[in-house]
Amino acid sequence: MSILFSTSHTSLISSKVGTPSRLSSASKWGVSSGRITESSWRRRPHWISRKYGAAWRRNLVAACSIKCPGEASSRVAETGKERESDTTHVEIPNVFKLMGYGKFVRHNPLSDHFSVRRFHHVEFWCSDATNVSRRFSFGLGMPIVAKSDISTGNLTHASYLLRSGTLNLLFSASYTSSISASTPGNSSIPSFSFPTFRRFAATHGLAVRAIAVEVEDAEAAFETSVAHGARPSHPPTPLGDDGEAVVAEVSLYGDVVLRYISFKRPEHSFFLPGFESIDPEVPLDYGFRRLDHAVGNVPELGPAVAYVKRFTGFHNFAEFTTEDVGSDESGLNSAVLANNNETVLLPINEPVNGTRLSNIQTFLDHNAGPGVQHLAMGTNDIFRTLREMRERRGFGGFEFMPPPPVTYYRNLAPRAGDVLTEEQMRECEEFGILFDRDEQGALLQTFTAPVGDRPTFFFEIIQRVGCMTKDEHGKTFQKGGCGGFGKGNFSELYKSIEEYAKMLEAKIAFN
Ligand SMILES: [Fe+2]
Repeated sequence: MSILFSTSHTSLISSKVGTPSRLSSASKWGVSSGRITESSWRRRPHWISRKYGAAWRRNLVAACSIKCPGEASSRVAETGKERESDTTHVEIPNVFKLMGYGKFVRHNPLSDHFSVRRFHHVEFWCSDATNVSRRFSFGLGMPIVAKSDISTGNLTHASYLLRSGTLNLLFSASYTSSISASTPGNSSIPSFSFPTFRRFAATHGLAVRAIAVEVEDAEAAFETSVAHGARPSHPPTPLGDDGEAVVAEVSLYGDVVLRYISFKRPEHSFFLPGFESIDPEVPLDYGFRRLDHAVGNVPELGPAVAYVKRFTGFHNFAEFTTEDVGSDESGLNSAVLANNNETVLLPINEPVNGTRLSNIQTFLDHNAGPGVQHLAMGTNDIFRTLREMRERRGFGGFEFMPPPPVTYYRNLAPRAGDVLTEEQMRECEEFGILFDRDEQGALLQTFTAPVGDRPTFFFEIIQRVGCMTKDEHGKTFQKGGCGGFGKGNFSELYKSIEEYAKMLEAKIAFN
């Protein structure tokens, strides 16, 4: 007996290759439509209507100049080029100018427009949350600790939360809109919208929808952001019987939103109201402890960085140009934005094409526009984490990018000998771990292969070494971004990604 599982790539990519599918290509999804804003507006609580009224409407109309709610947009959604307008249409002055790694001087101006505490969670949208969350749980060693689905009274979406340390990954998929409509207000993520979900999943496949940060006051963060030019995606909405949490969203890049969450009593919050905790059947822990950074790919860096800096007040934490990090064949420009305490790190990349397409452009083509390229997941013992992950890779876990050449490890001792033991350097070679350092500390990192059907999203596994300091309460913590972002390893990583892309191209040509 054989069972076949299929999904679609973007029509743009498919039409480029020009080879028909071996299966008939009946539409997998319904007609895609516009952004979240219109349906969100219709479902808004009355207090939002009273409080924001015309101002929200005005912003909604402003956002309409990018893509009107309810407007059929499958053609736009399928065309990476046209999606560039997501970050360029709003009048944001392109004040950002890259200096490059050599000239960049790190400086923290403490310029946040509102108080941002930390990463809270990252939400993936997928076509089936049960299966995807279980695969990621097993592959990453992160137990499923909470749910909001049909068994908890949520008839709008199925959502499952994976947690390890402070790292929270949420996987969501929709039920049917007709069933949901029978019980209004049953959703635990108030911004969840059927048309937006359908369009997102059909356009991007398995991908990150939201990067959520915990802020002191989500309503103030939203209002301040919109006042500074942010495109609103969902207004501040209280959650729970006594409004114990507030959630709001603004557009980040492409179809990815920056989600603001605040709690009345943060120390008592488990996750979000509406979620029920689950006692994991099997204890899983491969060592992940935190989200280190979340990386986005966009067609044009200047407008995207200027937009995010303008509405958040975040500062430039690091930057790299293609001269710093590119391989001979392609490259990228990159800037890293950070909040005041430098725990929320948001690198953004743009492609620089060389003798072949930049792998950032490959991402944009296959993702049909901007999106989150990778999440860097922090561990305190990268060797243990990788040992556990590799044991599962043939049984539903994750594959890894090809390791760097052996010459990389012959040159490691002079660079890492004062940080790593000989045994650890041997383990670096065994697991294909890359090493880099800056003037403050060091880092160990490696990368999975793309985790889904498309050559788009992947994970970075990272351990930072050094930079320990104390806060005002005397508590020891590690400064964000310690050891940099692997600038010295970018060329090895991108050569590796290019080899992967060449392999795919060879197979397409052969077929
Ligand atoms: Fe990274």
